[in-house]
Amino acid sequence: MQLQDILYSQGFGTRRICAGLIQQGWVAVYGAGAAEPVVCLNALQDFEVEGLVMRVQGVDWSYQDKAYVMLYKPAGTECSQKPSAYPSVYTLLPAPLRQRPSKSAVDGVQAVGRLDQDTTGLLLLSDDGQFIHRMSSPKKHVPKVYRVTSKHPISGDQIERLLAGVVLDDDPRPVRAAACVQLDEHTMDLALTQGKYHQVKRMIAAVGNRVDALHRSRIGGLELPADMRPGEWRWLSQEDIALLT
Ligand code: URA
Repeated sequence: MQLQDILYSQGFGTRRICAGLIQQGWVAVYGAGAAEPVVCLNALQDFEVEGLVMRVQGVDWSYQDKAYVMLYKPAGTECSQKPSAYPSVYTLLPAPLRQRPSKSAVDGVQAVGRLDQDTTGLLLLSDDGQFIHRMSSPKKHVPKVYRVTSKHPISGDQIERLLAGVVLDDDPRPVRAAACVQLDEHTMDLALTQGKYHQVKRMIAAVGNRVDALHRSRIGGLELPADMRPGEWRWLSQEDIALLT
């Protein structure tokens, strides 16, 4: 693929902007096993994209056919592209991830489901529509684990009711926790396989308690890495993606 098309596909701007970046010497390409990249001034030069690593405006960037990333969502951020009160989680991502051209209506990566503004933890984003659909589908039953800190002490009865199923106001069919493990007086891990609006908060309210803090720690078999910090993002590896299904 030509270098200007590679940059364009990765979200570095229009083909004209990408050609400009290259001609002005802002793009260097790592040869196989090379420690330092070599500047390429020819926008039309062909490169094999598989395993390609470039340095664009001083930042290393590995070619990704599709983008799959995880973000440690901090509190006080909204998952919407057009937030109403708090900054959008998309502002935490580098511009190329937000600009990647897409065949769908919107460019860039999209969040897989949403977390409330005050919820923290693991959020997935991708520009692969099928992946987003698969991960969000209630039929897939991918469990999501939330660490709940409650306002009132948690009782055995509350745990039992969460596991047996509670009725929320928008649906007569009960929703139940796939697992519910109490960790201390005010903390439990709750696993859900559906994703209704405010589901954890409404389930906890339905059993007579209240959520003080909510953190998503796991999706499927993928844990939020212990060394990640709020606001940080990472590419998902093939192994990470395999853990999700
Ligand atoms: N359930 C909630 O109530 N809020 C979230 O952010 C996620 C699940």
